[in-house]
Amino acid sequence: MVRQEVRGRPFSVICKISDWMIRASALVRKTVIASRLTKPQNWMHSIGPPPATISILWLREKVAHCPCETATYSKGIISMSIQTLFGIELPIIQAPLAGVQDSALAIAVSNAGGLGSLPCAMLSTETLRKELETIRAKTERPFNLNFFSHEMPVPDEAKAKAWNALFADYYAELDIDLLTAPSAPARMPFGQEMADLVHEYRPAVVSFHFGLPSPELMTQVRNSGAKIISSATTVEEALWLEAQGVDAIIVQGYEAGGHRGMFLTGDISTQVGTFALLPQVVHAVKVPVIAAGGIADATGVRAALELGAAGVQVGTAYMLCPEATTSAVHRAALKSDYARVTALTNVFSGRPARGIVNRLMRELGPMNPMAPHFPLAAQASAPLRAKAESLGRGDFSPLWAGQNVRGCKEISAGVLTRELASRILEC
Ligand SMILES: Cc1cc2nc3c(=O)[nH]c(=O)nc-3n(C[C@H](O)[C@H](O)[C@H](O)COP(=O)(O)O)c2cc1C
Repeated sequence: MVRQEVRGRPFSVICKISDWMIRASALVRKTVIASRLTKPQNWMHSIGPPPATISILWLREKVAHCPCETATYSKGIISMSIQTLFGIELPIIQAPLAGVQDSALAIAVSNAGGLGSLPCAMLSTETLRKELETIRAKTERPFNLNFFSHEMPVPDEAKAKAWNALFADYYAELDIDLLTAPSAPARMPFGQEMADLVHEYRPAVVSFHFGLPSPELMTQVRNSGAKIISSATTVEEALWLEAQGVDAIIVQGYEAGGHRGMFLTGDISTQVGTFALLPQVVHAVKVPVIAAGGIADATGVRAALELGAAGVQVGTAYMLCPEATTSAVHRAALKSDYARVTALTNVFSGRPARGIVNRLMRELGPMNPMAPHFPLAAQASAPLRAKAESLGRGDFSPLWAGQNVRGCKEISAGVLTRELASRILEC
């Protein structure tokens, strides 16, 4: 960051970069953040000429006390803040939370100045269109549409049979009739129909999980005008994403709730904690980096920016907000002491995801090598989940949560968004 480049350098070096810093940091921050601009600005042109005199003490004070510069500086490159990149007011992205939210949460966060996200992987095109109409009607602010970019596996009958056999006793225990039981929601990868909707509704941002879609689909998204971002869980994944031309990279640390976005490897021993991975990725890439995983309050947000993040993506902390659709059993689990014990598990979907440890994870996992490939493993537990939840039990539900549930509050998503940003706004 600016500060790290400046501290301890000789006076002449500091003066050399001060022009840049003044332009790209303090002045732009004042014009962009203080005036709460909601539209992207050509900030290089809007900051005007550098001041006639530069007080090094003033500069030092600025860079020492303010973690919210609109640009971050690494390897001689100044990268844009996400406020500027996405046309938002606060460097806070509400993580897409498939299964526990709809457009209401995204709208609340976008209207509060953050970037609201709508997870689309489990939506049909009809439902997505309805959600987009709702978003259009309720906010003019930028928002993010999130998609999965996994490859659908070829079903393996033998594997499915062996996996289903592990659930037979549970079906008997809960007296489940498989012929009438509900099936798991589809988790479809981004395809042409979704790309057409992106083109029609033109979200400011499109984010992907599990890598990126085909170059053709990427081009279509780019041509819609959307900024493209995706999750990286290792330095290698970040470098890969940068090479594909993404506009920013979400660094998803080990602490993060929900599915890990890992796509170059399936080996969970490669996964790194947020505040260990973040500075490594900031050092390795030139595009802005967004920190995700375990960030749940204003101090965490500030710490991530101190480590070079251009913004943060917060998920778990939003799950108790009234705008979220988090189920009753999930809310109860998040509020309980059990929420302190989470683990990566593949028993609910076939891919590693972090959730509060419950009966199914304990008895069949948390990681089970017999699980069919994502998302096919989900079908086996879906009927159990529905029945158990109707009885008020979360024994068979994916209780997705990150390692830091302390930030979960039953307050409106707008208030939470402003709270998360409060340590930035104060400086
Ligand atoms: C319930 C839940 C659902 C999630 N669904 C998605 C999703 O659909 N797409 C996605 O990119 N990330 C998803 N994530 C991961 C988040 O994007 C993000 O990495 C994570 O929430 C950050 O860590 P935190 O939960 O500790 O804040 C989900 C996380 C949770 C907790």
